[in-house]
Amino acid sequence: MYDKTVNDLIDYVKKHHDYRSKCINLIASENITSPQVRLVMGSDLGHRYAIGFLYMRIYRGCKFIDSIEELTGYLARKLFKVEHVNYIPISGTVANLVMFNALTNPGDSVAALTVLDGGHSSFKECSRVRGVAMIPLPFDQKNYNVDVIESEKLIRRVKPKIVLLGASDILFPHPVKELKEVVDEHGGILAYDGAHVLGLIAGGRFQDPLREGAEVVTGSTHKTLFGPQGGILLCRRKYSSAIDFSAWQMVNNHHIHRVAGLAITLCEFLAFGEKYADQVVRNAKALAECLYNKGLKPICPDRGFTESHQVIVDIGSNSGVDASFKLEEANIIANPMPLPWDPQEDKCSGIRLGVQEVTRLGMCEPEMEFIADRIANVLLDRETVEEARRKISEFMEGYQKIHYCFNNCAEAYRYF
Ligand SMILES: Cc1ncc(COP(=O)(O)O)c(C=O)c1O
Repeated sequence: MYDKTVNDLIDYVKKHHDYRSKCINLIASENITSPQVRLVMGSDLGHRYAIGFLYMRIYRGCKFIDSIEELTGYLARKLFKVEHVNYIPISGTVANLVMFNALTNPGDSVAALTVLDGGHSSFKECSRVRGVAMIPLPFDQKNYNVDVIESEKLIRRVKPKIVLLGASDILFPHPVKELKEVVDEHGGILAYDGAHVLGLIAGGRFQDPLREGAEVVTGSTHKTLFGPQGGILLCRRKYSSAIDFSAWQMVNNHHIHRVAGLAITLCEFLAFGEKYADQVVRNAKALAECLYNKGLKPICPDRGFTESHQVIVDIGSNSGVDASFKLEEANIIANPMPLPWDPQEDKCSGIRLGVQEVTRLGMCEPEMEFIADRIANVLLDRETVEEARRKISEFMEGYQKIHYCFNNCAEAYRYF
């Protein structure tokens, strides 16, 4: 009887593959991995433990795992030009938890953006579990960025142990350089959550927080960095022991198939990262511009809309959720989000669009025009969702191959 259930489950997975191959996938926190990454993700590594530290494992059988992890560390240090890397966290949230556990004590405070201002919920949750107070960093709504002058005042007054820049909704580089001095005044740690923009940082197409003064960078390995789902920390050598020990405590079993997949992704970035990141930012700008010209309201038109992979569209009071459902009916996948001027987190006036996955499928500026047409036509009732879905299905037939990897003939959404 359960063999039938297994078949049903596999059938759902295949249907999911088929469905998402016909969609325009614009969730800003997702991406697709290359066939080489997908193959190692399905390897025996996913059955194994390698508890402990490199070449100092508690369990036996790890000689090739040590080689894989030594290479992963080397590649990550090279790509990010950083003294130390820890790839043990299994997600960006866990990377933040590892950092909070390593660098704060209960009773400390951390300054970071709230969810309404684009911060991630893990800022508050990691603070809560560690017993530290999260102090909201002041936000400048007009410039859609951290407010430097007000933040300086807050940091001088509160002296937070960590000032955490970076965000989930991030259009422009954050003021790392600008806040470095004031954080140093009281011996605080300037950190940067690069979960969203890590691939752009790796490709040299956003800010470079480590060079600008951040001492620790946390991130996800699967958003603009197109690797397997996971987390990572980059830091100066002086924090390496605290962070490695914390990762060991917090994660313990770190999913080695994911680490091997990350190593392949790092090679892909070393080879193709600059071109990819450049095209991502061009595409985001092009999409925003087209949406604007077609009558929608991507925010920050006077600042060129975006410098990242994201475009944030103001749909109007509390209308973001409905808009995201309507787009979904047309096979355009995006998420609603609250904007800084919304009264609370679940009153979403915006939708967030990310172009990193469509870029990985080889799309460039002309394709952004087609995507903007469909989004605007659906949301402004110029085209039925059925009509848009049919056009999108046909359009997507031309974008089924993965780019920026060593086998770009591979079918992006094939089930294997
Ligand atoms: C700024 C930021 N930090 C952390 C995370 C958490 O990353 P993950 O989903 O890998 O746990 C996210 C997720 O979107 C994020 O936007």
